Amino acid sequence: MIKKAVEVALNEQINAEFHSAYLYLSMSAWFHSVGLAGYANWMRIQYQEELAHATRFFDYVNERGGNVKLSPIGEVQVDFKGTVNVFEETLVHEQLVTSLINKLMDIAIKESDHATKSFLQWFVDEQVEEEANVEQILHNLKLIKGEGQGLLMMDREMQTRVFVDPFAGAKA
Ligand code: FEO
Repeated sequence: MIKKAVEVALNEQINAEFHSAYLYLSMSAWFHSVGLAGYANWMRIQYQEELAHATRFFDYVNERGGNVKLSPIGEVQVDFKGTVNVFEETLVHEQLVTSLINKLMDIAIKESDHATKSFLQWFVDEQVEEEANVEQILHNLKLIKGEGQGLLMMDREMQTRVFVDPFAGAKA
């Protein structure tokens, strides 16, 4: 049986992951509104990844005999200053998620919950990749000053991103 402190923290993380999904879907809508379909696609895939993260936490709470508590999802930003700004916001958001995962790991360690520590390690590693990916895109966007021919070329590249379920085959 899962300890209360861990259960509460995991439920908060379910909400944080759904909130991330909501934010990226909002960013996808913004990219559509400015005619950048490739970036809109990239954010849509990001949204799907966050849903997969949320669902994985959901399944884990159930697997451990805990009680899932789904809280309201907070409002998200709908307007942005430009493509560079969206990815600056994305990086800040992923850094926040990293800090939440780290706090969750701290709680699992404090409670000597080895199963949760093992479960969370995938997310610790994933955050390194998420931040690196966003930093790379932001770097490229800054090089082209977020406009012109370079932006359209990047948009075509962003169109090629497809969703791959990171937990395909994982125990539900
Ligand atoms: Fe679920 Fe982008 O971290």
